[in-house]
Amino acid sequence: MHLRKISTLVVLLLSVHLSFGQYNALVIPDTISGTTFNLSLRDTFKQFLPGNQTITAGVNGNFWGPTLIFRKGDTVHMNIHSFLNDSTTVHWHGMHLPAVMDGGPHQIIPPGTVWQPYWIVKNQAATFWYHPHLHTMSEEQMTKGMGGFIIVRDAEEAALALPRTYGVDDIPLALSSRTFDASNAFVFTTRHYGDTGMVNGTLHPQVTLPKQYVRLRILNAEMERGYNLGFSDNRTFYIIGNDGGLLNAPVSATRVKLLVGERAEILVDLGSDAVGSSVELMAYNAGQEFGFGGGEPSTTGIFGSLLNNRNFNVLHIVVGAATSGAVTSVPSTLVNNTYLTAADATVSRTLVVTDGNPGGAPFQFDHALFNFNTMNKTVALGTTEKWTVINNNVFGHSFHIHDVEFKIVSRSSHPVGAYESGWKDTYYLQINDTVSFVAKFDDYADEIHPFMYHCHFAPHEDGGMMQQFIVVDKTAVDKTEKPSGDYSIYPNPSKSRINFSFTDPGMKVYYVTIINSVGRTMIMLPRPQLENGIDISNYAPGVYFVQLTDEKTKTTVTKQFIKE
Ligand code: C2O
Ligand code: CU
Ligand code: CU
Repeated sequence: MHLRKISTLVVLLLSVHLSFGQYNALVIPDTISGTTFNLSLRDTFKQFLPGNQTITAGVNGNFWGPTLIFRKGDTVHMNIHSFLNDSTTVHWHGMHLPAVMDGGPHQIIPPGTVWQPYWIVKNQAATFWYHPHLHTMSEEQMTKGMGGFIIVRDAEEAALALPRTYGVDDIPLALSSRTFDASNAFVFTTRHYGDTGMVNGTLHPQVTLPKQYVRLRILNAEMERGYNLGFSDNRTFYIIGNDGGLLNAPVSATRVKLLVGERAEILVDLGSDAVGSSVELMAYNAGQEFGFGGGEPSTTGIFGSLLNNRNFNVLHIVVGAATSGAVTSVPSTLVNNTYLTAADATVSRTLVVTDGNPGGAPFQFDHALFNFNTMNKTVALGTTEKWTVINNNVFGHSFHIHDVEFKIVSRSSHPVGAYESGWKDTYYLQINDTVSFVAKFDDYADEIHPFMYHCHFAPHEDGGMMQQFIVVDKTAVDKTEKPSGDYSIYPNPSKSRINFSFTDPGMKVYYVTIINSVGRTMIMLPRPQLENGIDISNYAPGVYFVQLTDEKTKTTVTKQFIKE
């Protein structure tokens, strides 16, 4: 064979190897639907690279958990069983729910414990997510892979001609990156930006998508990096949803920035692409303004990464055959949102980003690091408030608040973009930026359990750039008529189930915790429905303690029972 032919063959073989060998099939997380969601948290491992497996922590699996599909109006019951060696929490990012169910840093799930929050799904159709929120441990636990998507469906969304076949033309994409050490363990806290991108826990991912309009539900699940997303041929796409809901109408774009914790739903048209052709979803991160996470120039060190200040491939998309019933156009309008305006607000608050200078104290709000014992703000139930966050500091941030979806009403760095005109719970607070948003703090008051607001950069949040607020019902009846808080447990001893009888029949239960004789928490039940008692059939025989807190006075009375 002629030498030239041989080298051509070699080149051909190489390119075949590259085009098929360099990608891994994108993992599409399993889904759980209905009203009962069983989630098991475990320390585990996953084969990311040749050689050693990587130590991970998973929800019902070994990295990034199932997608929970909620229907608006349903009451969803979470059954969370932690088999982890460390405590954790599970927060429902973006969900509007009671603070005691929110899974923030206060709702600590000790090892071996079952936590059972439940709530009515009041959010409109959108893409949310769940993730650990244990103070100072968020970066580690998120790096290890705990988290997952939540998709809320509702009638308004269902009436629109949008792609919604999960995993076919409706694809969840959790964007992140990781650095591995020489033994393939994740590096965290000493490196905040990963060297290798990943989507849904897949390194070098590739997905085949049908030749039609496809909906991508994109989440920035990073620790600190921002993404300036676009397609490799600069094609136009349509932003249809922000964090907390669909927009009034699609917004066309060729780039969209997503900071940590933000979500965007986009429609992209693959209808003119040839079957078998490909296009890249890209992070156009080169040359971003200073303060954009991942724009730092270095490739090494705590803020260095091989992906920093570079354009890089996020997802290799191969175009496949169209499906039947393909969506072939973009709806001209979406849903009718009635947004809040600045004029609706009756209370205004200001937060200033402070500190964070190299060698000095970590970033914080108003020179106050997060402190479990400090209630930073008190909001009256039902109030519409305008919050202004000022960042004339040394870096950008991703600002997030729990409990509400808000409307951004002004930005000093640039006019509020159409791309961020919908319901938001997280936004990019640029350097030299002042951003105001308006939110209504409705439905859920709780004098004990707070909600959080914080920077969603995990190192900043863990470092204390987080504060807390309670929502209080000022019209609630006063507490002079105190229930006794007393109760009895029957049968006692019991083999399978314990029931409660209350001295004050009107008493409402705020919290029940059962602890075994060596102090291990067995179960945590926020605002439990106790009509059918509590199942103890799988408990080891012995003495247990019930700590029951009543709703009105928040006094806790401890009783003992014996499991036979
Ligand atoms: Cu995504 Cu306070 O959380
Ligand atoms: Cu949140
Ligand atoms: Cu920050």
